[in-house]
Amino acid sequence: MVSDLDQIEQTALEALGSIQEESALETWRVAHLGRSAPLMQVFDQLGKLSKEERPIIGRRANEVKRALEAAYTQRFNDLRQAALLRSIQLERLDVTLPGRALPIGRLHPANISVRTVIRAFADMGFQVYRSPEVETDEFNFGLLNMPPHHPARDMWDTFYTNMPNVSLRPHTSPGQIHVMRTYAPEPIRAILPGMCYRYEQISARKETQFNQIEVLAVGENITMSDLKGTIADLARRLYGPDMRTRFRAAYFPFTEPSAEYDFECLLCGGKGCAVCAGTGWLEIGGCGMVHPIVLQNGGYDPLKFTGFAAGLGTERIMMLKHRIEDIRYFWANDMRFLEQF
Ligand code: FA5
Repeated sequence: MVSDLDQIEQTALEALGSIQEESALETWRVAHLGRSAPLMQVFDQLGKLSKEERPIIGRRANEVKRALEAAYTQRFNDLRQAALLRSIQLERLDVTLPGRALPIGRLHPANISVRTVIRAFADMGFQVYRSPEVETDEFNFGLLNMPPHHPARDMWDTFYTNMPNVSLRPHTSPGQIHVMRTYAPEPIRAILPGMCYRYEQISARKETQFNQIEVLAVGENITMSDLKGTIADLARRLYGPDMRTRFRAAYFPFTEPSAEYDFECLLCGGKGCAVCAGTGWLEIGGCGMVHPIVLQNGGYDPLKFTGFAAGLGTERIMMLKHRIEDIRYFWANDMRFLEQF
């Protein structure tokens, strides 16, 4: 019986020694220390042994059990340690290697354009004023001299929201009322940049979203010449001293008189192309002298104050500057386009 135990110990220790993976240890434990292991059967047989044999075999069986348990723990720790060392070797980090360069972000061309125009106006003494992107009907139209059912409302193909009389602003002109009500009766020289939204027939020069900058000057001696001079000066600041502009009579309910102004089309050099609809000129914005009713709605006495206002599309400014032949590139999220700026 004692020699059987020696054999059991030897076999188990040999099997343990050949194990290389931690996962195989459990199988070994079940085979050599589990309920049906040969060693456990020896314990089961103890009761059947003679009084003389029982303590000798019992002692030896316990010795073997302790030896196997200790060997198991030792092997377990050794394999753990080896696995740890292997993973440290594999995942070693060389902190002296140079880092990977991250791609640097850049401004969107639409924002570059807004900033360029803001800078030009800032040099002329205009301050930036932020007005809401979502407006009520009253600000979008009513206070701009377009009462409900006024046919001129059709000029702005508006996106309405689920809330009654609330829409995404179709132009930055409602901001005129906000800025006037903030500063009246002080004089104003302000620009109001912002995204506008229209239910628009998309084309090479028209999108459903675009940036406008509203220009507003209110004071006691402001004339149409100030308006024309400011726009012509803007064109020269943006495109150089030879840049040509023109004004055409137009109609806006919130200005009187009103005009639209065009910049020479730099894409075709005046010959005519898809962007300028064959005219050689690109419409940049509308403008005029602030209507007395609008001045009054803003809190100014129209008998004492006059003002000029203009709105301009900044994507079109960028299109002329960089010869971009289609406005749809701005919102198509094509990196080949965006990365050029
Ligand atoms: C207006 O929005 C008036 N609020 C401008 C104004 C302001 C007049 C102050 C008088 C006084 P209009 O709809 O023409 O006007 O738009 C002005 C400019 O915004 C256009 O000339 C164009 O440059 C730009 N714009 C208008 N619609 C679009 C569009 N769908 N896509 C791109 N740019 C546009």
